Amino acid sequence: MKAVQFSEYGGPEVLRLVETPEPHPAAGQVRIAVRAAGVNPIDWKLRAGYFREQMPLTFPSGIGFDASGVVDEVGEGVTGVSVGDAVFGQGINTVAQHAILTNWAHKPDSLSFDEAAGYPTAVETATRALGLLNLKSGETILVHGAAGGVGTATLQFAHQRGIAVIATGREAKHQHLRSFGARPTTYGPGLVERVKLLAPNGLSAALDFAGSDVPDLIELIGDPSRVVTIADFHAPQKYGVQGSFTEFQKNPELIFAEAALLHSKGVFRMPVEETFPIEKASAAQKRSEAGRVTGKLIIKVT
Ligand SMILES: NC(=O)c1ccc[n+]([C@@H]2O[C@H](COP(=O)([O-])OP(=O)(O)OC[C@H]3O[C@@H](n4cnc5c(N)ncnc54)[C@H](OP(=O)(O)O)[C@@H]3O)[C@@H](O)[C@H]2O)c1
Repeated sequence: MKAVQFSEYGGPEVLRLVETPEPHPAAGQVRIAVRAAGVNPIDWKLRAGYFREQMPLTFPSGIGFDASGVVDEVGEGVTGVSVGDAVFGQGINTVAQHAILTNWAHKPDSLSFDEAAGYPTAVETATRALGLLNLKSGETILVHGAAGGVGTATLQFAHQRGIAVIATGREAKHQHLRSFGARPTTYGPGLVERVKLLAPNGLSAALDFAGSDVPDLIELIGDPSRVVTIADFHAPQKYGVQGSFTEFQKNPELIFAEAALLHSKGVFRMPVEETFPIEKASAAQKRSEAGRVTGKLIIKVT
């Protein structure tokens, strides 16, 4: 089968579309014929070698953790899914013609394969981050760096839970943020003053998805333990905020299924900003690395 791999750490140019043996599912896994794969910042961070100490790769390495497709092999002990079912979920080396999924949910007909491929990491991370704050309906939070995949999912789960959101993004992103019920403002100098004007009664918590400005978020909230970052590895030790980096949810398929249900009800969507053919996986990662994504970038496989 064709798959995107790389054999050394480096820039997007190290990615190659190669012929490689097909994978087969172990117990508890399924294999899909991949229709689309979601692009996440972790993909290019791993490729660039940012985590070579903590998570050294074995080369050649594949890319991608999110995908949608049609089940074509079912591992031992798997129930509730059959060959031919349309699913989306998380696995490994998903930018390939066939990929193994470890966690998945059925894809409703109303949800496209492209859009579904953008759900898994975004919805797992969004609900994990919100879950750390024990928020109640009626509270107001700040979501910093809100226009990307995780941010866009977070705005919608917050809205579902009756939580009001002030969201940061560049001016060009404000319509996107508003369309998900958030009140937008720009980041950069003056952030604290602008947010205070929007939330004169204060905020209960802040989520940092940008990996920057954590001291500003603490100043706004007044209590570092009510600030969660998923993007600044040093902030928990440096400032006493909560970090969530590798403590993934135990049953992410439940949240994938919830997102699919919400989509069917017309109250959850993930705009796909751009799709790339598998031959252009390096261009997709380059675009993600530029850091200006709205919603999701998707690699179309078939
Ligand atoms: N810890 C975890 O488990 C986990 C899981 C998933 C993702 N992450 C990390 O979380 C971050 C967000 O992930 P993602 O998938 O949402 O990324 P993404 O889709 O690439 O979106 C990134 C967003 O950040 C905004 N942004 C960039 N610089 C900013 C700044 N200085 N201040 C505010 N916003 C800024 C960009 O919008 P503008 O155009 O408005 O700048 C863009 O919409 C990444 O660093 C990713 O690696 C961590």
